[in-house]
Amino acid sequence: MHSPARRLTVLSGKGGVGKTLVTANLAAALAAKGTRVLVVDADLGLANLDVILRLSPVYTLQDLLYGRAALDETILPTQGGFDILPGGSALAHDASLTPTARDLWPTMLATLQARYDLIVFDAGAGIGDIVQAFAQMGDEILLLTTPEPTALLDAYATLKVLLRHSPTKPIRLIINQTVTLPASQALATHLMTVATRFLDAGHPVPMTYMGAVPLDPLMASSVARQQLLFLNHPTAPASLAIAILAKNLLEAGALPLAAR
Ligand SMILES: Nc1ncnc2c1ncn2[C@@H]1O[C@H](COP(=O)(O)OP(=O)(O)OP(=O)(O)O)[C@@H](O)[C@H]1O
Ligand SMILES: [Mg+2]
Repeated sequence: MHSPARRLTVLSGKGGVGKTLVTANLAAALAAKGTRVLVVDADLGLANLDVILRLSPVYTLQDLLYGRAALDETILPTQGGFDILPGGSALAHDASLTPTARDLWPTMLATLQARYDLIVFDAGAGIGDIVQAFAQMGDEILLLTTPEPTALLDAYATLKVLLRHSPTKPIRLIINQTVTLPASQALATHLMTVATRFLDAGHPVPMTYMGAVPLDPLMASSVARQQLLFLNHPTAPASLAIAILAKNLLEAGALPLAAR
């Protein structure tokens, strides 16, 4: 029996910084290395993981949680060699979980953890209740930002909330849509310094810089074609960067169970 899947939650604060695209391409890079990956579209309000993968799900996470569909009819294989659990799109009245659904979820998660090596929650923007609930489910957080000051500010605000609720949970910072690598490194160092100085965690901020993904026009055009960049342009700058992120993530290894 293999150990239960490692769980990652992808957060950003600001919307539209590239969480879904980086998640999907990273999942493809990890799948190519033999990792069994499930990506859960945890953006219950504006799910779109299925769209970038050219899928038309019949059932979604909400159907699963409300007992309208079974696990096996909800999970879909993708062109990237990983599976997804689709989210419902723009279902405002469904964008929160009822107590019954919340009760069902731990059992389902345990089943999924036995089937996969890695479960990635692609959360929505902001740091509202649902996003925080998915942050709690991750053993680790991938915090994504772009170099824009507004995105950095929102990443900082997210970091503040994360540290308040889970002070020791490992956070891996990814800077997306970068122009130069040294500039990204400098931004990561700056964010770390500010967090250490002002967030007063009482211990070192558990954040490490995982790497950067360049601003790559092919990334945007692949969305329009509903194709994964990593598969169709494996040598594009963003694909090469994603391959490095995948390697870093696997080398960082799973957390010891005691830290869960
Ligand atoms: N590295 C990149 N290079 C170029 N364009 C990018 C890159 N990453 C993301 N984009 C652009 O940003 C858009 C938004 O990306 P994505 O949907 O992944 O963001 P998101 O953070 O998941 O958004 P939301 O908060 O709405 O869930 C993409 O459609 C794409 O055009
Ligand atoms: Mg998204």
